[in-house]
Formats: sequence, C-alpha cells, structure tokens
Amino acid sequence: MFSIGLSVGAMAQNALVFDADAGEKSRMTAYDGTEVCYTAYERLFYVTNVEDSTYQFLNVYVPDGATQQTPIFLRTYVGGYMASPAAQPQAGDATGRALKEGYVVVIPGTRGRNSTIVADKAYAKAHKGVKKGQTIYTGRAPKAILDLKAAIRYLRHFDKQMPGDAERIITDGTSAGGAMSALMGATGNNPEYAALLKAMGAADERDDVFASVCYCPIIDLEHADMAYEWLYGQTDSRRALDDTHKQYTKELAAQFPAYVNSLNLRKPDGTPLTADNYLDYLKSEIIRSAQIAKNAGAEIPDSIGFSFTAEAGGMFAAPINGGIRPQIQGGRPPMGMRPMQGGMGRRQVGEYINDLDMQKYLNYVVSTQALKGVPAFDSQIEGINNASGENEEFGNETGSSVNFTDYTAQKNGTTVSDAIRQNVRLMNPMSFIGDGKTTVAPHWYIRHGARDRDTAFPVPVNFATKLQNAGKDVNFLLAWNRPHSGDYALDELFQWIAEIVNQ
Ligand code: DHB
Repeated sequence: MFSIGLSVGAMAQNALVFDADAGEKSRMTAYDGTEVCYTAYERLFYVTNVEDSTYQFLNVYVPDGATQQTPIFLRTYVGGYMASPAAQPQAGDATGRALKEGYVVVIPGTRGRNSTIVADKAYAKAHKGVKKGQTIYTGRAPKAILDLKAAIRYLRHFDKQMPGDAERIITDGTSAGGAMSALMGATGNNPEYAALLKAMGAADERDDVFASVCYCPIIDLEHADMAYEWLYGQTDSRRALDDTHKQYTKELAAQFPAYVNSLNLRKPDGTPLTADNYLDYLKSEIIRSAQIAKNAGAEIPDSIGFSFTAEAGGMFAAPINGGIRPQIQGGRPPMGMRPMQGGMGRRQVGEYINDLDMQKYLNYVVSTQALKGVPAFDSQIEGINNASGENEEFGNETGSSVNFTDYTAQKNGTTVSDAIRQNVRLMNPMSFIGDGKTTVAPHWYIRHGARDRDTAFPVPVNFATKLQNAGKDVNFLLAWNRPHSGDYALDELFQWIAEIVNQ
C-alpha cells in the first residue's frame, strides 16, 4: 500500500478547526409538512493531511433546540464501496427524520474505490513508482472506514464546542454503507487502525460509538461467497449453470459448514447455532419475519412455501394461550378448517405460520432478482474478466482489481498477499468483536430484507448473532418482503433510537 501524503487538490492544515459561530441558518420541510429550522456547519475537514479535498470533510446540522446532550445521528451515504461526498439532510430519508426528531445530524464524505486525483510533481516525488500526471485512486480499502473513524474523532475533539453529544453517536448506512456503519460500531478504538489514522492527521481521540444502524450490510467478504453458494446453490437458477460454475458452487458451498461452526455461535435461546441446524434457524427467522408482517395485516402467500395453522404453538410458532384446536382428535375438523378441495389436502388457512418450504422460498427470492454470478464477490476468476466492485475495493492506488479470498486466488494460481489480507480484515466488522482490544457499540439495529439477494442471509445473521453472544443489545430482523434497500420503517427505527437514548 502506498503511504498517505499530500497531492494535487490536497491541503495541509496545522490543526483541525471548528468555529461554533460560523453556522448558517437554514430550514427543511419535513416528511409530515412541518418546518424544521437548523444551523448548518459544512466543509469541516476531519484530518489535517487532506489527501482528497472532494471528500474528506463532514457536514453538521443542528436543529433548533438541540443541546450539548442531544444524540448525534451520523449517516454515511456510501454505496457500492464508492466515494461518497458529504451531503445535506434529505427530508425523505433517515437524515431528515433525525433532524425532525431533534437529533444533530452529521453526514461525512468518504473516499471510495472510484475516487481519484491526478499526481502532481510533488506527489510523484513522494511516492515511489508514481509518475506525474498519473491517476491515483485515493479510496481503496480501508480508506472509507479510516475517513469515517477520523470523522468520529473530529466530533469528539470538538464535543465541547459543538452542540450534540459525541458519546451518543448513532451511525446509519445501507449496503456497503451498512458495512461502514457496522465497522464504525464494531471496531471502536481498535489499535490496528491507529497508525493509519495518525498518518492522516486524524484527531488523537477515541472512535467508538454508542449505536449502529445497519441496513443490508455487505460484510464478511472473505466468507460471503461460500455463504452465498451454501444458501443458493440448490436453487433452480444455480442448476442452470455450466459445469465449471456448478463446480465452483459445489466447492464454495462445501466450505461454509466449517466456517460457521468455527464461529461457535449460540442462538438467542442459548443453544448452539451450527451448520447442522443453520437452515432450520434461517427458516425460523423468515417465519418470524413473515408472522410479524401477517399480524400487521400483510398477506403471506402459501405459493412461496408457507403453511399455516389456526392453532398457535406449531413447530416454529410461539405457543399462545387460548388458541382453538382445529383438529379434534378422532373427529372431523369444523367447517372452514377442512382441507380444501382439489388435491391441496394439506393446505390450511390460519393465523399462524407453522412451516416454510425453504427450497420453494429460496426459489421465490431468486425469481424476484437474478442471483449474482459464481463466485458472487471475489468474482475475478480463471481469466474471466468479471471483476466485482469488491475486487476493485481491495485493489491499489493504480486502480488494480485483486482477489481477496484464498478460494478465487488459488483458482488463479496466486495467493492473497499479507497486505491485502490485512485490508480485508480491517474492512470486516466480524474481525474484532470480543478481542478485548476493541470497544464495540452497546446498541445495534440490523435489518436485511427477507428477499435481498445481494448477500446471503447467513452474513447478517452471523453478525447479529456474534454481537448478541458478546452481550450487545441487538435488534435484528430479516425484514419482510424488503429487497436490497435501507432507511425503511422509520417510525420503528426512531422509536428504537428514542428507547436507547432515553434509557
Ligand atoms: C452494494 C451492493 C452489492 O451487491 C455489493 O456487492 C456491494 C455493495 C451496495 O449497494 O452498496
């Protein structure tokens, strides 16, 4: 990896700056038509060695009435591991809602896999192998999380001067941004980032946060391919692959059981979560999700694999007192509870979901959006030019794309270098939980759509379970009928936030 230094568009600052009197008054019409008045502080550079002045600053929005004690809602707009400029609050998303609820809103910019500068003479001189005029990629892994950590440190550095409580930062992001939110929450103060942050001129402060909201986080990239094939390998879509890709699917899927067993996870009831019971656990999580939606009035079709009972306490349903018994021992079930005509003998309409045919359900998920290729993430394989965003993310400042898993590297007759392996580790929120050297956020709100196929269900499930097992407060759901998306069910999210900040 090249060292971080000054370049074209770069600025050296002697010190970080925040001027409490420099805010600009502004207003926003909130989702409900009300006006929210706030003070904006923009272009606050969060490092002293600014390498990329397009991105390395944050914006702060302080609603009227906010105090030093007001929690801070920090939203990253990172998507696709790409660069993300500091933005203004949007009335229609979680930032506008946060402002409306009276929280201080912070939106940092971050470098990403596509951010570039052109090297000038000084830059070329300072960086071996770089020529003047060469395009330099400024945001390859782990730059985005370094920028976000620097932003958090900046907020702590000026906590006394700036409204809002830097001890109560709630991070939020979706997809690759969900990964960033997860990283902010799960890597606080970890020493492996320290030297990199120091070189950037980040404030010498702690960078742990209070809570993290993660929508469909694209994480655990070194194990995401095996999870994907383990889950989706049996679907109709994978059966249609050519023999080479079928073989990849088989080999990758075979790696998942050992990995999941190595995590030594426990379910919320304390029993082990292992490869042997994993599919059943996923089934129970999808049934839980669908049941919540059904209770709220959603139609849950049996055509996608669900079956129902009028009786509480089925194999996967929680027992509820007072449920009626539709099947009277030895007698005929009451009218209306009788099996339907026409060969659908087992079909029942009822209040409770008691089973799910996972094969059918997974085929349904795949029918809503085509699966990724094989491998899904480290997909630059055997000379086929299909580098993924992740292949680029782990590439270097010249814009290379590289393999980051042993599996695909071996297929290409190469190995993953120690430097790349370390970058992968720094980009994975699974890496440090429970290591005794990291301050993990105490509160977590994690959502992954029940028909989101951008990464496989085990990825967020393992993450939520690992956090839960480490004693964290985790609110997790495979959100019913949601595709790959975020910042939804904001009433529910902001109720959860109110609960954790008012405890
Ligand atoms: C995102 C989506 C992906 O499928 C992926 O592999 C990485 C990032 C995103 O939407 O941010």
